Amino acid sequence: MTAQFSNKGEAWSARFSEPVSDLVKRYTASVFFDKRLAMVDIEGSLAHAEMLAAQGIISAADHAEIERGMAQIKSEIEAGSFEWLLDLEDVHLNIEKRLTELVGDAGKRLHTGRSRNDQVATDIRLYVRSAIDDIVLLLQSLRGALTDLAEQHADTIMPGFTHMQVAQPITFGHHMLAYVEMFGRDVERMQDARKRVNRLPLGAAALAGTTFPIDRERVARTLGFDDVCHNSLDAVSDRDFAIEFCAAGALVMMHISRMSEELVIWMSPRVGFIDIADRFCTGSSIMPQKKNPDVPELARGKTGRVYGDLMGLLTLMKGQPLAYNKDNQEDKEPLFDTVDTVVDTLRIFADMAGGITVKPEAMRAAALQGYATATDLADYLVKKGLPFRDAHEAVARAVRACDDAKCDLSEMSLERLRDFSPLIGDDVFAVLTLEGSVAARDHVGGTAPRQVRAAIARVRGQLAD
Ligand code: ARG
Repeated sequence: MTAQFSNKGEAWSARFSEPVSDLVKRYTASVFFDKRLAMVDIEGSLAHAEMLAAQGIISAADHAEIERGMAQIKSEIEAGSFEWLLDLEDVHLNIEKRLTELVGDAGKRLHTGRSRNDQVATDIRLYVRSAIDDIVLLLQSLRGALTDLAEQHADTIMPGFTHMQVAQPITFGHHMLAYVEMFGRDVERMQDARKRVNRLPLGAAALAGTTFPIDRERVARTLGFDDVCHNSLDAVSDRDFAIEFCAAGALVMMHISRMSEELVIWMSPRVGFIDIADRFCTGSSIMPQKKNPDVPELARGKTGRVYGDLMGLLTLMKGQPLAYNKDNQEDKEPLFDTVDTVVDTLRIFADMAGGITVKPEAMRAAALQGYATATDLADYLVKKGLPFRDAHEAVARAVRACDDAKCDLSEMSLERLRDFSPLIGDDVFAVLTLEGSVAARDHVGGTAPRQVRAAIARVRGQLAD
């Protein structure tokens, strides 16, 4: 009698003298979360079966039966009629059991030269690869939406902040493009991680390889992997590729969270720089006047859980001796959680970017407070020959005088300004305007509207690639 699916139920029953307790069954089972891998599991099994047949390890007839059975299983899963059994522990054994029910011995031959260890490692790689491809598209659509916003506001002036204090005038377009850059690096990180994800573990079997004359390159080609994993112990045991993906996901959320923090501040009535469309906000059950920016707040909060997923995976891996250990079954929930959270968040943010209304008057009023053009005045004096440190001091004294007089630098008379430096002439007022200030920062990476438009064209070129 074969051990596979003996009449006692479990795949390994023949070796055991008593059944597993119900609590242990529940504790060790993963089917209720790893059934999400069903479609990639079938894809991997079909590639494996095709290779077994091509190598003469199973017959063409068995291969045809496996294909027939898997097609039916796929449609049962899609229809929601597939019966997932806790007793069968995980997605792999559930599918294999059903295959055997449907096609008999051919189903029992599928696992030749394979272990669940290399099988699950393959499934996760296929899953992460497709998640990366989805996330890259979503990141690019968010970048596109933010670039549209930047284009509408290439000339809209707002205060730029350091230490949350008004620092220098910038354009809202320039501010949006900062996030476009961040999300651009997130795209690169995802694409880079994909290279290390896209290698085939199958063939490693349990840990040492298999005695059958397999063709791993063939399976790799069928599944679209760039290469095979070159060490069987490494192939079945390491999850660094998933950790790397989660690290890239954590950085995406870190950028989302920074942006969320700004959206929340900007939407506060005390600031009033933007409004966010009603469909992304909620009200209060007690305060009738409230409109809360729930989506950015929640995204800021969800960033914490994605960091938690990453920490969980790193910790899961750190104490494991080679090769496979059951600990690795715990890789799935944090990984899936990261995928779900990042995907949903990016989807909502790409949509929400189009629902942001900018309030240029409020931004302008804020930029006129806090002496945002003080650096421009210092630069003006330097251009007239004053050393920068002396210019800095002269302007600092002028700012103090403005503070006392409760006026802006641009509102001081020329005579009064000349008290701080005789180098000041009536050409100074052009320099002290907000428009003059931003237009003067006219180099690659600067906030001048001309540069913002050039940066938009550059990003559009990347997005079209
Ligand atoms: N459900 C298992 C996992 O997620 C599949 C591999 C089980 N292998 C084993 N030897 N118990 O890792």
